[in-house]
Amino acid sequence: MKTKIAVAKGDGIGPEIMASVLRIFEAANVQLDYEYVEMGKSYFDAGHSTGMTAAAKETIERLGLLFKGPMETPKGKGVKSINVTARKVWNTYANQRDFRSLNGVDTVFSKAGIPINLTIVRENIEDTYGGIEHLLTNDVAVGRRMITRPGSAQVIRYAFEMARRKGYAKLACGHKANIMKLTDGMFLETFYEIAKEYPDIEASDIIVDDLCMKLVSRPELFQAIVLTNLQGDIVSDLCAGLVGGLGFAPSANIGDNISIFEAVHGTAPDIAGRGIANPTALLLSGILMLRYLGFSTAAADIENALLYTLEQGVHTGDFGDKSTAAANTESFADAVIANLGQVPAKGAVVAQPDAAITINHDKPSINKLTITSPNTTQEMVGVDVFVESGKQPQELAEIAKGKETDLFKLVMISNRGTQVWPTGSIFTELVNEYRIRFEKKDGAEVTQKDLLNIAAELSDDLKVCSVEFLMKFDGKIGYTLAQGQ
Ligand code: NAI
Repeated sequence: MKTKIAVAKGDGIGPEIMASVLRIFEAANVQLDYEYVEMGKSYFDAGHSTGMTAAAKETIERLGLLFKGPMETPKGKGVKSINVTARKVWNTYANQRDFRSLNGVDTVFSKAGIPINLTIVRENIEDTYGGIEHLLTNDVAVGRRMITRPGSAQVIRYAFEMARRKGYAKLACGHKANIMKLTDGMFLETFYEIAKEYPDIEASDIIVDDLCMKLVSRPELFQAIVLTNLQGDIVSDLCAGLVGGLGFAPSANIGDNISIFEAVHGTAPDIAGRGIANPTALLLSGILMLRYLGFSTAAADIENALLYTLEQGVHTGDFGDKSTAAANTESFADAVIANLGQVPAKGAVVAQPDAAITINHDKPSINKLTITSPNTTQEMVGVDVFVESGKQPQELAEIAKGKETDLFKLVMISNRGTQVWPTGSIFTELVNEYRIRFEKKDGAEVTQKDLLNIAAELSDDLKVCSVEFLMKFDGKIGYTLAQGQ
């Protein structure tokens, strides 16, 4: 019996490259059935605010797997990217991108004889991609970077499982926990917690800037790397550059119920409709999808035919030897089809029959909510009140001191995260947003209302921009100190 998946052709070059890829699937006798769904720019234009019809949403949620071409998000209409929305709404929490040197695609590494074969797994929902941003004063914009324990655990567990499926010996965690101690610190802590369940895989961690340097100098050090969303976004494009650019970068967005396979590149409006686009990235994404579905023999056959074709020097206009004639999208696909059954001289792929993942087709009746440690004790110890002010630190401290009570004392004022009161440097430059920190006095018992009252009191004299509680969790402080505190 054939497996049914949802297919969205996409915009721009999407329909052209999708047709070629599905033609290659058919020639390789891939046992898939397709239900085409209405998604993309024209559906935004027709008034669907999410860029897809209700029927498309229903089909994707029912089938659990979407193979999609690139889609254009209309600019300046206040609508959110359909690509990002789809990943978030359906909780495709892991973005997997496989990077390998491809025969016939020249890069500095291929010329130096250094083969590249690595996988980046990027968290796909959280981090700054929550898009929670506020303008606090005319000069100060802030964004919330949200890292959660359940979200980190999901993607990290996926990365370990993937490493095991691929037979990798090691998995690295890229992070910046030396600076972002609570957010990246939580991601890193979760990584080592979960690593205990995978003793067969060597777990290590690396600071993301060092990682970037090593990826461009010694990429062979790594097999798989898991990262938070924004860092993973940047590092995965860096890796695309290592293997020849975005035209060769497949991508899988994996969730427990719904997964989305797509190329990393966009709709290429400059060449759309001309039949010259390179279908390789979408084909590689399709190959990832076939493996995910357990069609590993077809995946290996197609990948070998593609590698053989590239090895023969067949190329579209965007890459390869410019002194030889470029194939168009159709003739490139024809060459891959004609080469089914061929094996490349370099980097041939062997089918791994145990790669399948089962799609969970159960439709939940309520939204899944995860709380990892419901019995953690919490204690309120103070409050950071963020205020708008053009005053000097000492003047501000005098106002704040006037708000001290039996319960609270003023402990610190910072500007852009650097302490400016009680001590600081005259050379610290200021902007018109300060953080004023009050902590409870020894032995005092304080409530949320007491803490909010401080902000209310300050609002008599200053514009309060926002308020954050200072908490201890199981006795450990859950906030960072200011630079210089
Ligand atoms: P783009 O990736 O579409 O194009 C950048 C350059 O690469 C262009 O010169 C284009 O001709 C070339 N290119 C891209 N894919 C190619 C292919 N398969 N074969 C040959 N040449 C190729 O990026 P751009 O111009 O920034 O974005 C265009 C549109 O695509 C935007 O509306 C954007 O929102 C959307 N987009 C959609 C994505 C998705 O659906 N996942 C991802 C990225 C962008």
